[in-house]
Amino acid sequence: MKKILVTGASGQIGSELIPALRKKYGLENVISGVHKRNLTKEVKGSGPSVNLDVADENRLKEVIGSIKPDTIFHLASLLSAVAEQDRNLSFKVNFEAVYNILETSVNEGVEKVIVPSSIGAFGPDTPAIAPNDTLQHPNTIYGISKVFGELLGNYYYPTTGLDVRGVRLPGILSWKVEPTAGTTDYAVAIFYGALTTGKYTCYLQSDTKLPMMYMPDAVDSLIQIAEADGSKLKHRSDFNVAAISFTPAELADAIKKRIPGFRIEYEIDPLRQSIADSWPDELIDDVAKEEWGWNYKYGLDEIVDDMIDNLKTKLEVSAH
Ligand SMILES: NC(=O)c1ccc[n+]([C@@H]2O[C@H](COP(=O)([O-])OP(=O)(O)OC[C@H]3O[C@@H](n4cnc5c(N)ncnc54)[C@H](O)[C@@H]3O)[C@@H](O)[C@H]2O)c1
Repeated sequence: MKKILVTGASGQIGSELIPALRKKYGLENVISGVHKRNLTKEVKGSGPSVNLDVADENRLKEVIGSIKPDTIFHLASLLSAVAEQDRNLSFKVNFEAVYNILETSVNEGVEKVIVPSSIGAFGPDTPAIAPNDTLQHPNTIYGISKVFGELLGNYYYPTTGLDVRGVRLPGILSWKVEPTAGTTDYAVAIFYGALTTGKYTCYLQSDTKLPMMYMPDAVDSLIQIAEADGSKLKHRSDFNVAAISFTPAELADAIKKRIPGFRIEYEIDPLRQSIADSWPDELIDDVAKEEWGWNYKYGLDEIVDDMIDNLKTKLEVSAH
């Protein structure tokens, strides 16, 4: 990877992936594609950026044509709960733009495109402990777009030579940038509640178990799949990557051990609860381990300790 374009650069993942890529591949060689939301100071101050609405096909062609990246990390997306509220826009961003990026990449000689998938690519027919290759049948517009991205990605390599790769990310916990109305955001918001008011009202039921991952592991998974030896890959755009799974009650207990006065209450959001209920409890990531040596580093205790330490500094609070 010599010149890298990252779309959706100001999001939860882009804000942490870009500094990691710049450290490895050089500050000037990683270009942030920005739309509406501001970049973090760290990303803005450390290298080039370009305005890029991925739903604008002409602008997309212009930007890819002028930058001539060899690799694109395509992070621009509307996440699960937001996508459900605006199907029209989510079709443009999550379906059409994926197609346009891949097609433009073929025409402009891009070598590799990384398109993250998600646990959202699974649905109610998927086993609760989900193998890599299993029934998917998602019942959300977000999930359908993720299956579309996986299938389209897997199609491009044998037909055009464009190497499209992706991992199915679980819900991601991070302290630098807050997530944007996905279904697993409670797992970040709960720390803000615990540290600022000592309480949190959770929109998922206490026993809703979901696959989760800490941001440094998510960033590693994206860089590792991008760098993986292509000759060893039998899959390409559809790798399960797992770390840990927990319920809101289990996360609340882990927080209470560090912040004893913390209280959690529940007020269920029917939309996000129904999305969460359609997703598996756990992912089996044997295929990613076998084909490119994936493994996670952060377990629940390490995540909770690191989130609390960093958020205390960021929010300038001492724990309740
Ligand atoms: N965060 C998670 O928990 C999680 C879990 C699984 C998969 N993913 C996937 O990872 C990728 C990145 O997610 P994220 O968490 O950073 O999301 P995010 O919502 O934090 O960021 C998405 C970014 O896309 C940008 N965007 C939206 N519409 C755009 C448009 N028309 N043109 C250009 N940019 C646009 C937004 O400005 C935002 O910066 C997505 O494909 C998402 O589905 C995320």
